Amino acid sequence: MAGARTILFVRDQAGACAFWRAALGSAPRLHVPGMTEFDLPGGACLGLMPDSGIRRLLGDALPAAPAAGSGPRAEIYLLVPDPEARLRIAIDAGATPVAPVTDRTWGDRAGYCLDPDGHLLAFAAPAVRPAPEALPASAAPIDLEAAFRSVDAHWSPRVVAALNGQHVRIARLLGAYHWHRHHDEDELFLVRRGTLEIQFRDRTVRLPPGSLFVVPRGVEHRPVCDAEVEVLLFEPAETVPAGTPGDAAAP
Ligand code: NI
Repeated sequence: MAGARTILFVRDQAGACAFWRAALGSAPRLHVPGMTEFDLPGGACLGLMPDSGIRRLLGDALPAAPAAGSGPRAEIYLLVPDPEARLRIAIDAGATPVAPVTDRTWGDRAGYCLDPDGHLLAFAAPAVRPAPEALPASAAPIDLEAAFRSVDAHWSPRVVAALNGQHVRIARLLGAYHWHRHHDEDELFLVRRGTLEIQFRDRTVRLPPGSLFVVPRGVEHRPVCDAEVEVLLFEPAETVPAGTPGDAAAP
């Protein structure tokens, strides 16, 4: 992939431009009749196009826009140093508050609002917890036996612990997963029960119980097992379990 652009269809291009200028804290790189573009971190781009523009381009082939109030149809998720302040600025600039900045299950703290056209807008940062001076009362060993018993679906990893920006997930596997690769993450498998085979395009690696293996980022692979396997996986917390086919965040 050489780039990515997200384009929101907006009712009022000038109003949307003013709003996103405040929400992003930067000026558009392009603002001409019919299209406004803002640079986003990592080389991505946010485009704002009037409803009338896309309608003119694609005509009746395009379904009617959802009625106002029928719910957001897109989300922009921005990682920023200070989500609380950015959310406040967006609300001052006309956003509708949805949810304050709080710790979320995937390891970020994130707050939500709606832009003037009803798109969901999130401001997020990795959650930071103050370092406790003593062991918190809530700290307790994780009963892996019980944790594995509570997983009832195959190929559906569950988070059991988090540390240093990584999640420890457990999963029960049976059968064959699809061929996929993880572009940005190495993937650790610690096999607890059963024997897992990981197929690569040129060979197969066999992982008996008690073995540990790291699939390097970018390498295409496919986990397979004839009988049920229990594994622990270490993955960056920002890895969203529901990945796209072919680039899945699952095993
Ligand atoms: Ni994988």
